[in-house]
Amino acid sequence: MRNLSFFFVFCLLSSLSHAIELDFCVGDLSLPRGHEGYACKDPAEVTTDDFVYTGFRGEKTPNNVFGNNVTLAFSDVFPAFNGLGISMARLDFAVGGVIPVHSHRTSEVLLLVKGSIIAGFIDTNNTAYYKRLEVGDVMVFPQAMLHFQINVGKTPATAYVSLNGANPALQLTPTALFAGNLPADIAQDITLLSQLDFCVGDLSLPRGPGGYACKDPAEVTTDDFVYTGISMARLDFAVGRVIQVHSHRTSEVLLLVKGSIIAGFIDTNNTSYYKRLEVGDVMVFPQAMLHFQINVCKTPATAHVSLNGANPALQLTPTALFAGNLSADIAQDITLLSRREVMRMKQIFGTA
Ligand SMILES: *[C@@H]1O[C@H](CO)[C@@H](O)[C@H](O)[C@H]1NC(C)=O
Ligand SMILES: *[C@@H]1O[C@H](CO)[C@@H](O)[C@H](O)[C@H]1NC(C)=O
Ligand SMILES: *[C@@H]1O[C@H](CO)[C@@H](O)[C@H](O)[C@H]1NC(C)=O
Ligand SMILES: *[C@@H]1O[C@H](CO)[C@@H](O)[C@H](O)[C@H]1NC(C)=O
Ligand SMILES: *[C@@H]1O[C@H](CO)[C@@H](O)[C@H](O)[C@H]1NC(C)=O
Repeated sequence: MRNLSFFFVFCLLSSLSHAIELDFCVGDLSLPRGHEGYACKDPAEVTTDDFVYTGFRGEKTPNNVFGNNVTLAFSDVFPAFNGLGISMARLDFAVGGVIPVHSHRTSEVLLLVKGSIIAGFIDTNNTAYYKRLEVGDVMVFPQAMLHFQINVGKTPATAYVSLNGANPALQLTPTALFAGNLPADIAQDITLLSQLDFCVGDLSLPRGPGGYACKDPAEVTTDDFVYTGISMARLDFAVGRVIQVHSHRTSEVLLLVKGSIIAGFIDTNNTSYYKRLEVGDVMVFPQAMLHFQINVCKTPATAHVSLNGANPALQLTPTALFAGNLSADIAQDITLLSRREVMRMKQIFGTA
């Protein structure tokens, strides 16, 4: 216990001293990114231009299937943000354009500068908080909660958002589930959807200016997330069924003690890492990423999970979207599902 508190104080001091000793740490993008961000660029080479981002200038024409154009200014394109725990994005909407339901590791604050949009989020009680915003309005989306924006005006709309992390990540729920390598049968099990009727255009969607063009043969495999020897608290976890796709504010580590399950998560590159676990296996689900568990055996299964936060929150995606007070119209816009499928899901949850 004393060792633990010493370690905690040490971590606190070292992170504070980092903040105090350096005025800034403009990221050096030529070096590999570490867990805490990029290494600092040589201060002798830092100029004013390093602190100015001009990528938000001009018109941003929404030309993807969602009718949006998202310009991300995360630390990988604006390295001045490195180490400062802040980032921004510009959101442009065509008439009827939408940013489908998504989440970040961080909180977000939005300022509408043009047009009129409905913006909202869903909390872990499945309550939807959304409102039509007018120019000058500001709305907050709390950390890691599912949220969305829809242009409901008769003109294009533009908003700027700030996020309290230099690399907050952007996980679009429909894309994570249906644009990556997750097999259709698993997607169906963990979303409760009857059919995968997401629009075809989704798959051909261009990436944002964050720029990740090529599909590198992933060096990371599911096996990298299957570890042994991590210390854990013991929690009881579902028996013999599917845990819908969900997320937390924290990371999670799972230990299977009975049966056999498929467990996995989806990263922000739409890549699914999943594996059939046997008794004694441990798997890690990184912070805020969508993840799921399916009992694939004919017997009940039991696992214990630990989460690195006192109140990690549990947001089950299908439940959040269809069991709460989110209207069918909005659910349809932000999930790309057909009306029929939305109504079927609301019937499952008794909210039709
Ligand atoms: C966003 O706007 C820029 C500038 O008009 C354009 O080059 C880019 O293709 C657009 N991206 C999307 C996804 O619409
Ligand atoms: C969510 O539900 C719990 C338990 O019913 C309640 O204690 C809590 O206040 C609710 N939170 C919100 C934000 O409504
Ligand atoms: C959902 O419930 C919340 C809390 O009661 C409320 O603020 C919000 O307006 C409701 N949304 C709808 C569409 O009824
Ligand atoms: C995601 O894609 C980017 C760009 O292709 C790459 O640098 C990064 O390593 C990928 N992340 C993972 C976890 O595969
Ligand atoms: C994730 O899916 C979107 C939508 O299909 C696609 O534009 C993007 O390239 C995908 N990302 C990766 C890293 O494959």
